[in-house]
Amino acid sequence: MKRCLIVTGGGDCPGLNAVIRAVVKRASKERDWEIVGSIEAFNGILREPTEIVILDEKKVEGIHYRGGTIIQTTNRGGPFAWPIKNKDGTWSTVDRSEEMLRKMQYLGIDAVINIGGDGSQRISKQLFDMGCNIIGVPKTIDNDLSATDFTFGFQTAVQIATEAVDKLVTTAASHNRVMILEVMGRYAGWIALNAAIAGGAEICLLPEFPYDINKVLDNVNQRFERNRGFVNIVISESARAIGKDYTTLSEKEIGNEHRRLGGVANVLMHELKEAGCEHSIRTTVLGHLQRGGIPIAYDRILATQFGVKAFEMVLNNEFGKMVSYRHPNIVSVSLEEVLKQPKLVEADASLMNTARGVGIHFGD
Ligand code: F6P
Repeated sequence: MKRCLIVTGGGDCPGLNAVIRAVVKRASKERDWEIVGSIEAFNGILREPTEIVILDEKKVEGIHYRGGTIIQTTNRGGPFAWPIKNKDGTWSTVDRSEEMLRKMQYLGIDAVINIGGDGSQRISKQLFDMGCNIIGVPKTIDNDLSATDFTFGFQTAVQIATEAVDKLVTTAASHNRVMILEVMGRYAGWIALNAAIAGGAEICLLPEFPYDINKVLDNVNQRFERNRGFVNIVISESARAIGKDYTTLSEKEIGNEHRRLGGVANVLMHELKEAGCEHSIRTTVLGHLQRGGIPIAYDRILATQFGVKAFEMVLNNEFGKMVSYRHPNIVSVSLEEVLKQPKLVEADASLMNTARGVGIHFGD
């Protein structure tokens, strides 16, 4: 019997369970493969005692529409940067990758399917270079991987953000207010841009294009006549005014490579007030609601396609690659290609043209 290990790493994301189910179902057609899952990304392998679970058809029954991941995840640490607490209370990290590969060999693992975003795929590449038979599956609500048209989870996040705009417009119109909605996306503005178009927002502020607060204010004022009017603004969590830095919540978490972004909606509210905005402003931070709950049908389908393809890549020994969606096909790309550059919104992107075409203002 051969063993394939599934790992889910990074932030949870709608559709993770649909990938797991698809891998298991596709593998069940082959007689000689067993699928196991490591609990909490690679931590399940690294921990003593080892935490891995057998994933059979019974275990994955009906999980395609469940949010989160049945094998849990983490965006802290990992085999190359395992956090350890020093005697003086400070933290440092150690590389446990070689030890982990030895343990995987001992556990009889022949192949690994690593489902995750850029950080996870960097780990995939490093492990592949060390001889691990690994395949990546792209996951992130941010849709910031350039090697695939879409990652699963993104459309669900856009749907949730759009529903938020739909709800906020009611209050904006009833109270003649400026309503600011802060959405996730890390350093890419895809969720904000899509939700602004779908929700009919008037202003959209993206990380890719630092805004001029006076221009934002001018645009807000144009929407009001003698204090009657309203504005819906969608702002991406790492958007910022020209010359300013990202808004972060706190210092980095131990073992988390990223700064925690958040709070920019309030920053924008204060900037508008300081610039002279006299209208009533309210802010909403959508936060992790964008990652929770059931995946929409689109993401379940994409996740299922990714899962089937990933296992077929295992069967074909296509290691060192990531599953990718290149409309209309599910293909594979080298992990090297995956890590080249993030997919950010470009000024000449077709969606930007659409947004400007319907009058959305970008603070420029
Ligand atoms: O990458 C997905 C994402 O949800 C980003 O959009 C966001 O900045 C980050 O993760 C939040 O991470 P955490 O769950 O650690 O707060």
